[in-house]
Amino acid sequence: MIKRVSTALGRFLLFFLAFGVALVSMRYWSFETIDFLQMKTEEVLSNQLFRISFYGHVIFGPLALMSGPFQFLPKFRAKRMQLHRLIGKVYIIAVLFSGLAGLGAAQWTPGGEFTQLGFSLLALSWLYTTTKAYLSIRNLDIDAHQQWMLRSYALTLAAVTLRIYLPLLQGPIGLSFIEAYQVVGWMCWIPNLIVIEIWIRKRMMSFE
Ligand code: HEM
Repeated sequence: MIKRVSTALGRFLLFFLAFGVALVSMRYWSFETIDFLQMKTEEVLSNQLFRISFYGHVIFGPLALMSGPFQFLPKFRAKRMQLHRLIGKVYIIAVLFSGLAGLGAAQWTPGGEFTQLGFSLLALSWLYTTTKAYLSIRNLDIDAHQQWMLRSYALTLAAVTLRIYLPLLQGPIGLSFIEAYQVVGWMCWIPNLIVIEIWIRKRMMSFE
C-alpha cells in the first residue's frame, strides 16, 4: 500500500515538474527579448550563431521534457506500444536538436569557462546516452534500451533541478547569480546521474 502511494506520488511529481518547467520555458517561443535574454549584450543578441543555438535549444528542450514521463509508465508501454514508439521518436529528435543547440548555447552562458564546461559536458552526455538508447532498441536489446533511456531522461531533468537549485543557491545559501550559475552548471546533472545509476543497479540486483 505505502509503495503504491509513493509510486503514484512520485509519478505525479514527475509529470507536474516536467510539464511545469516545459510550459514556462515556452515563453521564449514568442521570440521576444525577455528574462534570461535581457542579460545578454546587443552584440550577443544579434549574433546569428547564438540565436540559432538559443532558439533551437528552447524550442526542442520542452518537447523532450514533456515526452519523457509517459514513456516510463509500464501500463502505457504495454497497452499503447505504437504511441510509445511515436513519442520515443519525438523525444530522440528533440534531444538531438536541443542537445546540439545546447552545446552551442553553452559557449555564451554566464559564469565563464567553468560553467561552459559543465553545460557542454551535460549536452554531450545527453546526446551520448540518448544515442545509446536508440541504438540498443535498434538491436532489440530492451534492457539496455531502458537503462540508457533512464540515464538520458535523468539528464533531461537537469532543466528541472537547475530551476530548483538556482534560487536556493542565491537565497538561503547567499551566492551571487554568477557564483550560483557556476555551481549549478555541474550540480544540475551530476547528482541526477549518480541517483539513476544507483537505482538501475539496485533494480538489476533485485532481478538476479
Ligand atoms: C540536458 C541538457 C541541457 C543542456 C546542456 C542545456 C544547456 C543550456 C544552456 C547552456 C543555457 C544557457 C544559454 C545562454 O546562456 O544563453 C540554457 C538555457 C535554457 N534552457 Fe537548457 N539545457 C539542457 C536542457 C534543457 C531542457 C530539457 C529544457 C526544457 C525546458 C531547457 C530549457 C532552457 C531554457 C528555457 C533556457 C533559457 C534560460 C532560462 O530562462 O532559464 N534546457 N540551457
